[in-house]
Amino acid sequence: MTKSNKKRVFIFDTTLRDGEQSPGFSMNLDEKLRFARQLENLGVDIIEAGFPVASEGDFASVQQIAREIRGPQIAALARADLADIDRAWEAIKDAADPRIHTFISTSDIHLKYQLKKTQKQVLKEARAAVEHACTYTKNVEFSPMDATRTDKDYLCEVVEAVIAAGANTVNIPDTVGYAMPDEFGELIAYLFENVKNINDAVISVHCHNDLGVAVANSLSALKHGARQVECTINGIGERAGNASLEEVVMALETRKDLLGFSSNIKKKLIYHSSRLLTDITGIPVQPNKAIVGANAFAHESGIHQDGLIKEKMTYEIMTPQSVGVPETHIVLGKHSGRHAIKKHLEKMGYTNLTDEEIDKAFERFKELADVKKEIFDEDIEAILSYDVFRKLDKYRLIYLNVVSGNVAIPTATIQMEVDGEVIQDAGFGVGPVDATFAAIRKITKTDYYLLRYAVNAITGGTDAQGVVTVQLKYNGRTVVGRGADPDIIVASAKAYINTLNRVESLKAYDNKDAEVK
Ligand code: KIV
Ligand code: ZN
Repeated sequence: MTKSNKKRVFIFDTTLRDGEQSPGFSMNLDEKLRFARQLENLGVDIIEAGFPVASEGDFASVQQIAREIRGPQIAALARADLADIDRAWEAIKDAADPRIHTFISTSDIHLKYQLKKTQKQVLKEARAAVEHACTYTKNVEFSPMDATRTDKDYLCEVVEAVIAAGANTVNIPDTVGYAMPDEFGELIAYLFENVKNINDAVISVHCHNDLGVAVANSLSALKHGARQVECTINGIGERAGNASLEEVVMALETRKDLLGFSSNIKKKLIYHSSRLLTDITGIPVQPNKAIVGANAFAHESGIHQDGLIKEKMTYEIMTPQSVGVPETHIVLGKHSGRHAIKKHLEKMGYTNLTDEEIDKAFERFKELADVKKEIFDEDIEAILSYDVFRKLDKYRLIYLNVVSGNVAIPTATIQMEVDGEVIQDAGFGVGPVDATFAAIRKITKTDYYLLRYAVNAITGGTDAQGVVTVQLKYNGRTVVGRGADPDIIVASAKAYINTLNRVESLKAYDNKDAEVK
């Protein structure tokens, strides 16, 4: 057995592909591009930008990312199908360093019930797919899907064949999150023992979290020779998600003594990357989420606090600063100027804002500082997410007036811009939010099913900005929008309108797909 002794781990981020395809996490092109820029700053080695054959929208986003992001390799996913591979290549061919990632299922369960193909046929298709991809680029990754439920000797045969056909990376996915850490490590060791040409490729792993062991499985695989980990920010992904990037990276960093690996990730940008994803998708992480959850570094117990005061190491295995968690403090007031805002944004990690974006942020900051005396980092992040990065949409809120109380029938009067035309109407409801949504539905002539409505305060105090999350059901999909304002009724209106605008951008993608078919 010869296994790679190199201790450098390649981080393959699939937030924009496996993560984005899971319910509620869809992003539009601008959002994907913004997130891809952050992944580049974070230092990931490979960005899996999408699955170009899935839709015109996916294709356009992958193409744009490939054209603009020059640091990391840009991978596009394709089934082991020649036309899929052609489409993937078309999307990434302008990248500085493109990678085609092709896959086919290899487990008996998938072969029998889903593909209805024999092992021999699948082996042939896998080899042909890799050979075809290699006519475009030498940077080809192959994944035998459902590898952990595949007959081991057949898996070895497939891995050997695709490496011989030219794959320079072979990824072993635990597609259904079935494997246990020791077992998964042993599978990787088995491949190293039984695949003759295994050292001609990098062995990668892609673990799902159905049994909560995706990160443990990935670490176990590294111990047995794997050198690439596929993961996502906040661990988002199909079903229970994928291995979380921040957990894998911080486990490698914190237990370097035991594991001895290193990655190229800039750990101080981890927290900001997590927050950016939350802001874009509107889906928060659970408070007790490792590394990036709100309580990840909070110590409540008196004994722990006592220990920490005496020596941080007593209860802290890594510092919040090491992953970029900002200390909550008042950052700016109404007298702060544009220069101070710009400098502060840079300190927060927003280093590539355009002048126009800074102007917009400053303008909104001034408005907020007029009604709220203390402005926190969280307020600045909300301004960027909800006011600066939003592009011109179909619907825009101009004016909202609400009458409510325990004697009046709650009534909302709203003025909105719809495709540039100003429209005004009123709605009634059981409360001010219900009345506001009724008025918006009238003006926009929409009636999507409301799946979820949630309000959170960004910071403490009664003058805190409220962040509202709205989820609507559109065409069987969950669409999420968010809005922030010190007035929670206004925040609710902004969130509802943002969700409707996101439905509109999905519709535009769907229509483009229909035209293509
Ligand atoms: O989970 C999986 O098997 C995948 C493959 C496409 C790599 O996402
Ligand atoms: Zn997956």
